Amino acid sequence: MSLTNKKIVIIGASSGIGFALAKQLSTQGADVIAVSRHADSALAKKIGKKTVAYTLDLNNKDQVNGFIKQILHIDHLVFTAAPRIASQQLDALDFKLVAELFEVKVFSPLRLIQGLLPVLSKSGSILFTSGLLSRKAIAGTLAKAMGNGAIESLTKTLAKELAPIRVNTVSPGITDTDVYGKEGSKARVEFIEKTKRSSLLNHVANPQHLADGYQYLLENSAVTGTVLDIEGGALL
Ligand SMILES: NC(=O)c1ccc[n+]([C@@H]2O[C@H](COP(=O)([O-])OP(=O)(O)OC[C@H]3O[C@@H](n4cnc5c(N)ncnc54)[C@H](OP(=O)(O)O)[C@@H]3O)[C@@H](O)[C@H]2O)c1
Repeated sequence: MSLTNKKIVIIGASSGIGFALAKQLSTQGADVIAVSRHADSALAKKIGKKTVAYTLDLNNKDQVNGFIKQILHIDHLVFTAAPRIASQQLDALDFKLVAELFEVKVFSPLRLIQGLLPVLSKSGSILFTSGLLSRKAIAGTLAKAMGNGAIESLTKTLAKELAPIRVNTVSPGITDTDVYGKEGSKARVEFIEKTKRSSLLNHVANPQHLADGYQYLLENSAVTGTVLDIEGGALL
């Protein structure tokens, strides 16, 4: 199914995976609505023509409700937003950060879906983002493991509840984005190099690899309830 002229909302489009996806879809003629806390006309211009930017903090329920009221029609709704949180084991777990992660990755998206359902095309789809840590146990990643696990579980239930609207999730492994530091920074270069050396495929995914997976799930009208791992075999 072509995405040309389809109205696609991407929540988390200002950087990393969401930005790469927004740019890719815009290039192919989609009408992208790019959403994040820092979405302005400069971002819209960087993504491409026909792109509209909307500033929204997923932690702010009034802003979430305000956004819902502005939208008259959507074909696809994509969530890539997440707070950047450091590793914490249980003895130092900051429950405020856990709550924020759930608000941004799980609760606000569900509120948005609830509110936007009347304007979401029946032939369209919803696409979440989880992450490798849902099924790869690594000490110090409790918050992310729980949040990502919740998304993967709700994907399947929501796919049954909302059919024929399709509901899918992309689960990225380590992907080279600003989450690991500014582009070219020593910390990021060293981390990516180290990850590369221990990886099965001798390289680390970039946002483009991820965008290709999102696009597949948006286009393929026979896929729902799926979690697509793009992790270079890190789960093996
Ligand atoms: N990169 C990886 O290695 C990796 C691995 C596993 C899973 N993931 C998942 O993949 C997704 C994308 O990751 P990424 O690396 O592209 O992250 P990123 O570069 O940090 O992008 C996150 C996006 O979310 C937006 N955002 C954050 N908090 C928000 C809020 N409260 N309200 C609205 N927008 C908010 C950010 O924009 P503003 O700052 O402008 O709001 C940004 O556009 C995330 O869900 C992440 O957990 C990534």
